[in-house]
Amino acid sequence: MRYFESRVIANQRVADDIFVLQVERNSAEVAAGQFYMLKSWDKELTLMRPVSVFKADESVLWFMYRVVGSGTSRISALMPGDKMRLLGPCGNGYPCDALKGRIAVVGGGLGIPPLCETAKTLKARGATVDAYLGFRDALFAVEDFEPHCENIFISTEKGEEGYRGFITDLLSPENYDTVITCGPEVMMRKVASMCAMTDTRCYCSLEHRMACGIGACLGCSIRTKSGMRRVCKDGPVFLSSELEW
Ligand SMILES: Cc1cc2nc3c(=O)[nH]c(=O)nc-3n(C[C@H](O)[C@H](O)[C@H](O)COP(=O)(O)OP(=O)(O)OC[C@H]3O[C@@H](n4cnc5c(N)ncnc54)[C@H](O)[C@@H]3O)c2cc1C
Ligand code: FES
Repeated sequence: MRYFESRVIANQRVADDIFVLQVERNSAEVAAGQFYMLKSWDKELTLMRPVSVFKADESVLWFMYRVVGSGTSRISALMPGDKMRLLGPCGNGYPCDALKGRIAVVGGGLGIPPLCETAKTLKARGATVDAYLGFRDALFAVEDFEPHCENIFISTEKGEEGYRGFITDLLSPENYDTVITCGPEVMMRKVASMCAMTDTRCYCSLEHRMACGIGACLGCSIRTKSGMRRVCKDGPVFLSSELEW
């Protein structure tokens, strides 16, 4: 993990309030499911904001984010050539080397982008990946999953695209060796309970308000079956069987 300055390559709106930021990678490390703390400000806002890695190649890091408040709004104003600061990679990521066979990645909303780099890594390690992507209305990032997935299932709340309803309606965990999920807590809890019923291994990527992002302030601590854990340092990925929701 390191703190470094990078330059913005592009920062484009891809759906209503959703943007994709591309920054120079500057040899930064990345593992599937990890995140970076980002900032484009010096004085006004002190805390960096956590955003997961959406995609990475040799020279570029991609982040997909929804504008929800002051930090993401400032980031959305960045222009190509602007400088910003990154701290990372943070967190544990998914244990992709240990995951074999058929794997379902189940994402909802802005939990979808981090699963793209995960699907790519799992496929490169020989796993067969199906993606279950649940959207509120407008689709995003689906084409980024296509090279890495055997099947892609889509749902929207009102049926504008794909299945009408919740993405969990389409999932049968017993068809998979492992299920990986990232998104709203209500969705992940449902996925975790479906996996518990079928005895399928399930990993959840948790979201929590973060201050330091590096395990120092304990501000993101949660209770688990093996004691208190920091989402930023011990997570964000946890086995669902470890979680006390
Ligand atoms: C490990 C991790 C990875 C993340 N990855 C992504 C990502 O890939 N894409 C993305 O769009 N967002 C991601 N987030 C969420 C993102 O960090 C927050 O949306 C962002 O910090 C909000 O900052 P802000 O200053 O714009 O909003 P603020 O002004 O800080 O808050 C605006 C509103 O958003 C809520 N909020 C802020 N942070 C969170 C949070 N972490 N969880 C739930 N609600 C929150 C606040 O309660 C408030 O209602 C991630 C969060 C974590 C912890
Ligand atoms: S945000 Fe400080 S310990 Fe996690």
